[in-house]
Amino acid sequence: MFKPIVWVLCLAPLVYLIYSLYQDLGVNPIETFTNTTGIWTLRLIMITLAITPLRWLTGINQLVNYRRLIGLFAFFYASIHFITYVVTTFFVGGFSNFDASGLAADLTTRPYIVAGFTAFVLMIPLAITSTAGWIRRLGGKKWNWLHRLIYITAMAAVLHYYWKVSIKLVPVNPRNYAILVAILLAFRIWRHFAKRAASEV
Ligand code: HEM
Repeated sequence: MFKPIVWVLCLAPLVYLIYSLYQDLGVNPIETFTNTTGIWTLRLIMITLAITPLRWLTGINQLVNYRRLIGLFAFFYASIHFITYVVTTFFVGGFSNFDASGLAADLTTRPYIVAGFTAFVLMIPLAITSTAGWIRRLGGKKWNWLHRLIYITAMAAVLHYYWKVSIKLVPVNPRNYAILVAILLAFRIWRHFAKRAASEV
């Protein structure tokens, strides 16, 4: 019922970013574009992870209907973020100048890039198997296990952000996101053990 609103809210940051870059290119428009798509990827991953605890806390089960859409938008922003980095860093001077070895070296040796790439790659099977057909094919149990990859994505994404900005004095934002991920994951662990204890009674 609220899906059109979720669509509008998820697309709004991108529309606003394109509009503001068009209005004022700023000092470094590529950096602004990459950083903004990166932060929105992270925010949408956090919202996706927050849906299950929010459902448990509020009892509003319909929230689950929006998890897939928001997760796919996180993947959409991550793809734009990744493509921007590849195109603006390794296609400098035109498409015939693609620096494949430079890209391979970056993806495997620079710690913050390795962490970001890990987070992104792990989102691919999640996006592919997000359909009802795949849930049927895999079965609920396997599907749930596979989709726990989102926890590793979230941790790798925070690490990526932390390493990217840790050259600055106090990386406050990455720390806050790290705390948020820790709370969201701790909640699941607590729920798991609480359920087990209840079933043993
Ligand atoms: C889930 C996946 C990812 C998330 C959540 C994410 C998040 C972020 C965030 C929050 C920033 C902003 C840092 C700041 O404000 O200073 C950022 C920057 C950056 N990310 Fe990612 N990222 C992801 C994947 C990737 C991948 C796959 C790559 C490339 C292989 C990448 C390359 C970069 C680069 C190069 C920057 C710095 C941009 C600049 O300063 O010009 N990221 N990312």
